[in-house]
Amino acid sequence: MLKFNFYGHACFLLDDGKYKLLFDPFLSGNPQAAIKPDDVKADYVFVTHAHGDHVGDAYDILRKNQATLVCIPEVADLVGDEVKSIGMNLGGTIKLPFGFARMVPALHSAGVAGGTCCGYVVHIADKNIYFAGDTCLFSDMKLIGERDKIDYAVLPIGGHFTMDAYDAARAVEFLGAKNVIPVHYNTWQPIEQDAEEFKKLIKGAAVHIVKPGESIELA
Ligand code: NI
Ligand code: MN
Repeated sequence: MLKFNFYGHACFLLDDGKYKLLFDPFLSGNPQAAIKPDDVKADYVFVTHAHGDHVGDAYDILRKNQATLVCIPEVADLVGDEVKSIGMNLGGTIKLPFGFARMVPALHSAGVAGGTCCGYVVHIADKNIYFAGDTCLFSDMKLIGERDKIDYAVLPIGGHFTMDAYDAARAVEFLGAKNVIPVHYNTWQPIEQDAEEFKKLIKGAAVHIVKPGESIELA
């Protein structure tokens, strides 16, 4: 059984009952935050890029949990030597005890000199979960869906800093995703978005609107 716990904005936890994978842990200063950084349990922390609304509380959570950071080297350098980290880069795949993690492109600024934003395809509990990070729509999402059958795509829909609902709907088509979970919207006024309107744009995939603090089982 694989659970998706949504903590608000673009922060979520995948939990297969043995391993806890935390993504983009922005909680302090996040108006949607559904959990305190001190209460988060994680084995791995994945960070897509160094903007504050993604790297967030990574450092404190990593130290407290003795967790392992997965990210590009430039972000790992920001966090420093006191935490365990696995630096990787676009196109790379690492085997981890729960399955694998593949780092895939995202088109967005990096938030740190010399870096790049990224997304991830994570294989856990026999499922492939794609987290786009912050990105615009790009046609090479088709390649991501060709390589790995995407069971769940976690996509930003808020616009302004990332793709909006319209482009995210195209992304679902490019990926051939079976299920989609919208994130990165309604945190602040510039990224206000009606998730129900997004849902209406999607054909051929199930849309799961998860509110901050809610969790769903990824079936
Ligand atoms: Ni960003
Ligand atoms: Mn962002």
